Amino acid sequence: MNRTTEVSVPRRRFLANVTGALAAVPLTIAAAHAAGEDTTSRSAPLPRPGQFPVRVISSANGLDATRTAYEAILKGGDTLDACVAGVNLVEDDPNDTSVGYGGLPNEDGIVELDAAVMHGPTHQAGAVAALQNIKNPSKVAKLVMEQTDHVLLVGEGALKFARAHGFKEEDLLTERARKIWLYWRQSRDKDDDWIEPPDELLDPEVKTFFKRPTGTIHCAGMNTNGDISCTTTTSGLAFKLAGRVGDSPIIGAGLYVDNAVGSSGSTGRGEANLQNLSCSTAVELMRGGRSPKEAGLEILRRIAANSVNRLRDKDGRPNFDLSFYLLAKNGDYAGVSMWGPAKFAITDEKGTRHEPCAVLFERVAK
Ligand code: GLY
Repeated sequence: MNRTTEVSVPRRRFLANVTGALAAVPLTIAAAHAAGEDTTSRSAPLPRPGQFPVRVISSANGLDATRTAYEAILKGGDTLDACVAGVNLVEDDPNDTSVGYGGLPNEDGIVELDAAVMHGPTHQAGAVAALQNIKNPSKVAKLVMEQTDHVLLVGEGALKFARAHGFKEEDLLTERARKIWLYWRQSRDKDDDWIEPPDELLDPEVKTFFKRPTGTIHCAGMNTNGDISCTTTTSGLAFKLAGRVGDSPIIGAGLYVDNAVGSSGSTGRGEANLQNLSCSTAVELMRGGRSPKEAGLEILRRIAANSVNRLRDKDGRPNFDLSFYLLAKNGDYAGVSMWGPAKFAITDEKGTRHEPCAVLFERVAK
């Protein structure tokens, strides 16, 4: 079916057939008009298989991840294998305190990791949550997808599964992360039995982590056939309650891909994405004709509107950060962020680089 014939389908019949149609091809501009949707950002018809633009996008901490994944896709690798290989670099990096080895621990000083993968061509997904002692939770999540009938394993069950598959157990708490956690614990409450050390005994770096960070990496990639996959992996909110699970391992919240439409993944305050099922909603907005940027900004606006008062600043704006990385089937992409300035990483035919995120609110330099 070409795009011109789709235009002529009467609205009632089009809507009745919409599920089947979407499984085959994304909505065209004309078909979306017929369905009464916002099409302001809809771009040209899709390329043929073999001619889609190869793209890999990621959170800002994934510059090398996007390069690695892009090269793997160019060599003909599966898009999910490529994205997982990319984020493994960051999971292995002791200097990234938001992901894998070296991630900041929970309030008890124990590193608990969350990760999920989603494979566009098969619409399969796998995830692990609150996983201890395994530095590549994204690899375990992929095995959950490939070698179980389940989607999500948590805690001890996830660890048992990883052990069964031969993953090596190791202490994920680096000295740097331990020192940051210890200072957080010591300086938390003036009335408890921990005493804050004098400044001269402190590594100056630990104080920069006093505002609890929510790092994470999301990575999404598309190949020349327009197949899209993605993964999100994190150590979650620093100093979280033991057992707290964020959005990253929850399909639809921390990541989502519909191979006919595009993908969305997130970093930042996971609770906001759990409450708004943000990533699948963003993909649905793209299906309805929004560009990646408009879809992402719309989700941020909804989250800002839904935020409770204790999470707002004096001007009523969310006092937390949240970003989305969106990739549309036609190759359009965007990073969007609640607070700017912010950037995201991309590798495509133009090279590997950071680009600025579109933002809802700008921080004013003091
Ligand atoms: N978005 C990561 C987390 O909240 O755990």
